[in-house]
Amino acid sequence: MNKDHKVLYSGMQATGNLTLGNYLGALKNWVNLADEYECFYGVMDLHSLTVRQNPAEFRKRARQLMMLYIAAGIDPERNCLYLQSSVPCHAELGWILDCFTYMGELQRMTQFKDKSAKHADNVNAGLFTYPVLMAADILLYQTDVVPVGVDQLQHLEITRDIAQRFNSIYGDVFTMPEPYIGKIGAKIMSLQDPAKKMSKSDDNPNASIFLMDDPDTIRRKCKRAITDSEATIAYRDEQPGLKNLFDIYCACTGKTPDDVVKEFAGCGYGQVKEAVGEAVVGVLKPLQDRVKELESDKGYIDNVIKTNAERAYYCANKTLRKVKKKIGLTEVR
Ligand code: TYM
Repeated sequence: MNKDHKVLYSGMQATGNLTLGNYLGALKNWVNLADEYECFYGVMDLHSLTVRQNPAEFRKRARQLMMLYIAAGIDPERNCLYLQSSVPCHAELGWILDCFTYMGELQRMTQFKDKSAKHADNVNAGLFTYPVLMAADILLYQTDVVPVGVDQLQHLEITRDIAQRFNSIYGDVFTMPEPYIGKIGAKIMSLQDPAKKMSKSDDNPNASIFLMDDPDTIRRKCKRAITDSEATIAYRDEQPGLKNLFDIYCACTGKTPDDVVKEFAGCGYGQVKEAVGEAVVGVLKPLQDRVKELESDKGYIDNVIKTNAERAYYCANKTLRKVKKKIGLTEVR
């Protein structure tokens, strides 16, 4: 593939309240990588439709997510930050790739199994073909790297399988994307059950820190985090609650697990929890302040949404036209 720059693509669903897991596992890495790549970040509103949405609330959440991207440090002048639904090529390539994906492959997706168990009253076809739309998102932009948390790895694998299958029939159409998983924070666990991923949809509100939680709530949630009865400061799998707190601390401060074990040697878990709470507040407070500023400037976000949709469409449509030509669809315009 002949390109001037390497391309980075990622996105988040515009559903629910974003958690610290979303930030440390994904958003933070996006910002760190932005200088090295030509970057596209989608607000994945089409993906959110697998769950029934309240229209007014949904529209607001999509805009809020865009503000969070900007507040986290993604400059919309230098990066293409757009609403997935504003670029029709996603749905179009999604359909084409559906025809290159096997039912058996989709049946193996653990997120499909988890989500269909959780929403047993609404196991819709969109939930099933979700990974194909995600493949279309990534492949449309000739993506080299996709920074995500560990939970998205299986979706990256199927994206690569689909791309490989298509390329083996039609030639070198899609760039083969690689996942990028950060060293620390790639899987932030629930504060109430360290065997489970921290998730937007956890029924227990103390299990997740939400990006817009106020400082006192963040401190309180950290204080209540489940640890263990060993009373030993160590970074190891046998103490998953403490390990998760250390992961959060490291991801927020840039320190390594070794540094942190030394720093807290001889301390009680209460001191660790307090320090983690402060570190999280230190990272989230500036982000929240910036979101509040952006919320007061409606015209600015409207303009970002409009101009970036055009940029994204231009790039996505180039790939889509190529795909259509290769498979023998007639170009009319
Ligand atoms: P979503 O919206 O569930 O999550 C967004 C990003 O946050 C990461 N993440 C976590 N990382 C660490 N610890 C956690 N507890 C945690 N929870 C979530 C996710 O791995 C993800 O990187 N299918 C995607 C959205 C998507 C997408 C794409 C991503 C649609 N198309 C194309 C990349 C490229 C999703 O549902 O992510």
